[in-house]
Amino acid sequence: MRLIPNKTAALSTATSHNNKLGRSEAKIEIIITRNIYGDLIIAESHGTQNINSYAQRDRGRPKRDAFVGMLPPKLAQIMINLSGTKPDDYLWDPFCGTGTVLQEAALIGVNAYGSDLSDKMISYATENMSWVEKTFSTNTFWQAHQADATSVKLTGEQKKRISQVVCETYLGQPFSAPPSPEKLHEVVGNCNHIISDFLQNIHSQIRPDTTLCIAVPAWQNHEGKFTHLPLIKNLKKLGYQQIIDKNLLYHREDQVVAREILVLKPADIAKTA
Ligand SMILES: C[S@@+](CC[C@H](N)C(=O)[O-])C[C@H]1O[C@@H](n2cnc3c(N)ncnc32)[C@H](O)[C@@H]1O
Repeated sequence: MRLIPNKTAALSTATSHNNKLGRSEAKIEIIITRNIYGDLIIAESHGTQNINSYAQRDRGRPKRDAFVGMLPPKLAQIMINLSGTKPDDYLWDPFCGTGTVLQEAALIGVNAYGSDLSDKMISYATENMSWVEKTFSTNTFWQAHQADATSVKLTGEQKKRISQVVCETYLGQPFSAPPSPEKLHEVVGNCNHIISDFLQNIHSQIRPDTTLCIAVPAWQNHEGKFTHLPLIKNLKKLGYQQIIDKNLLYHREDQVVAREILVLKPADIAKTA
């Protein structure tokens, strides 16, 4: 028996991982803690996040691009899970950047198409995926090609195969401090335009049973209030319904540009009044 003392109420991921909590076949790990109401909680740990593997899949990749901003592998994994993929499915990331979604798909046996406006990003995603195949011995199908998400035409085979769209769309420029109202208005308008055009373009091309899990930008001001993309209130007119109707925001406390996660299904396009 061993005791892992912890000063804070929550056990950090690093402490759990480094102490191999829940990862030993011959032992069980019991957590005893008190919650904020004073109740004593006794629980058994069943596993921990492998932070070393996440770090390798993030910072260990040959190609990174801080300006484009890269999706944390953990969030890519969450989004793939929310889209409901099963092994052997085909997903599509139409804003694939350096290929984090393609990577996390390959690691769970899901095939992936990636496209991006930038040729440079396609070469980065291709190099990163070759590294994934070598490093983790994955053998799923993947393909990355240059295309504008607002006008791309899927091939007949892609239309038949793709059952999930998982992507982090264009997020606008990065900000280290909240922008002026004029600048914010400009960036929100620009992102809203690109993402609406993208959703409209793919609506008639994707299968009716497709699930979309997309990360779009939301901007935090000094008071911690968020400006959301106007299209979120207009999804019906674009031909989509939200299947998880919750405000799923992923951000650090002080981060200006947060990622808002939308889980959607295609629906009939609502007539404008
Ligand atoms: C926030 S980044 C995505 C980063 C990616 N998730 C990764 O892990 O590297 C957004 C990407 O959208 C691409 N992009 C911007 N406008 C686009 C468009 N109209 N069609 C397709 N891709 C576009 C950019 O080149 C950029 O790579």
